[in-house]
Amino acid sequence: MDIQRIREDFPQLERKINGERLIYFDNAATSLRPKSVVDAVSEFYLNYNANIHRAIHTLSREATEAYERAHKDVAKFINAESMEEIIFTRNTTESINLVVFSLFLSEKVKSGDTVVISLMEHHSNMVPWQFLRDKYGVNLKFVNLNSDGTLDMNHLEDVLKKSKNLKVVSITHASNVLGAVNDVKTIGKLAHRYGAIFIVDGAQSAPHLKVDVKDIDCDFYAFSGHKMLGPTGIGALYGKKALLEELEPFLRGGDMIWEVKIEKVTFNKLPWKYEAGTSNIAGGIGFGAAVRYLESVGMENVEKHERDLASYALQKLKELDFVRVYGPEERIGVVAFNVMQKNGNPFSPEFVAQVLDRHGIAIRTGCHCAQPLHNNFLKVRGTARASFYLYNTKEEIDIFVDVLRDFGNAL
Ligand SMILES: Cc1ncc(COP(=O)(O)O)c(C=O)c1O
Repeated sequence: MDIQRIREDFPQLERKINGERLIYFDNAATSLRPKSVVDAVSEFYLNYNANIHRAIHTLSREATEAYERAHKDVAKFINAESMEEIIFTRNTTESINLVVFSLFLSEKVKSGDTVVISLMEHHSNMVPWQFLRDKYGVNLKFVNLNSDGTLDMNHLEDVLKKSKNLKVVSITHASNVLGAVNDVKTIGKLAHRYGAIFIVDGAQSAPHLKVDVKDIDCDFYAFSGHKMLGPTGIGALYGKKALLEELEPFLRGGDMIWEVKIEKVTFNKLPWKYEAGTSNIAGGIGFGAAVRYLESVGMENVEKHERDLASYALQKLKELDFVRVYGPEERIGVVAFNVMQKNGNPFSPEFVAQVLDRHGIAIRTGCHCAQPLHNNFLKVRGTARASFYLYNTKEEIDIFVDVLRDFGNAL
C-alpha cells in the first residue's frame, strides 16, 4: 500500500489547523472522502441529475443505472448474493431501525420474546430494542464483557441457552470504543442453533475489514457509507433475500409499491420494497464510488495497515504511564484512552482534545454513543478516542504521542 500516493487522493489532508498540518484521527466518527467520491457526486448533480425509476427520458435512465450500479458494487463489496439483498438507507442507525420495526410489524418479535445484545453496543443497536422492551414487553438481555473488553462468549452461550422465546441476537462486529473485533461467525452459529435471527452492526467493520456476509452467515448486516469514504446520509442494510421477501416494510409510499388499488397494495421487487420515496441518489452513487476506491486498495491491505497502526499506537502509549488505554491488544484502529491526573481521576477528555486540536490533531471525546459501556463497564464518564484509517501514518502517531507526552510532562 502506497500511503503517500493514497494521501494525495484526500485533499483535506492538506489542511492546516492552528498552523499545523491536519492529523485526522476521528475516522470512527466519519472518514474523509477521496476526490473520486466527491467527483462522482458532483458529476451526478452537474451532468445527469434526474429522479430514478420514474421516467423513460435519458437522464432518468442514466441516474437509475448509476444508482443501481452502486447497489451492485456495494453487494459485491460484502459478498451479498445480488443487489436485491442491499437496501440503501441513511446510515447504520436507520438500517438497524428498519430491521427492528420490520421484524416487529411482521410479528417476528413480540411481547414475551427475547432479544440479546451486548454491553459494548452503540446506542443505535440498543435504543430501538429498549423501545420494544419498554413499550411492548420484549425481553432485552445484555451479554457481558471479559475484563479486557472482549465479548464474554461463555456468557453469550449461557444467555442464549436460558432465554425463553429467543428471537434475535444483534451484536456489533467491531466496537467503536474498545476496538475489539467480535467472532461474528461463531456468534451467528450459536444464534442460529438457538433459533434466533442474527443481526450484525457493521458500522465499524465494513470500513476496515474484509467482510463476507455469506461466510459470516448473518441474516442482516448494517453499515454506513460516511464511515467508509462515502457521502453522509447514505448507508446500507444487507438482508437475506428470503427474509426480506417475507418481512413487512416499515416505510411506505412511492417507489416501494408495485400496484396500488383502493382496496389493496402490492409491493415492489427487492430491494425497492424497502426504499420508499425519492432516495439519496447522489449519496448512493457516491457510496458506489467509495467501495470501488476501497476495492482498488484492497480490504486486506486496509485491515493490515490499520492493525499495524493500532499496535504501534498501543506500544507508544505504553511509554506514557499517565495514559490509560481501554480495550484488548488485538483490535481495529480504534484507541480509547484517558489522561490520568496525579489524584487518579482522568482529565476531562474534552480538555485533552483541545490540547491536541491546538496541534492540528482531531480526535473524538465523550461516550461515543456507548453510554452503558462507559457507565457499567469502563466506569468512567467518557474517554478520548483516536481512530485511524488507510491514509494515517506512524509519523502522525508519533506526533500525537509527543503532544500527549509534553502535556503529561507539564503536569
Ligand atoms: C458500532 C457503531 N454502530 C452504529 C453506529 C451508528 O452509525 P451512524 O451514526 O452512521 O448511523 C456507529 C457510529 O459511530 C458505530 O460506531
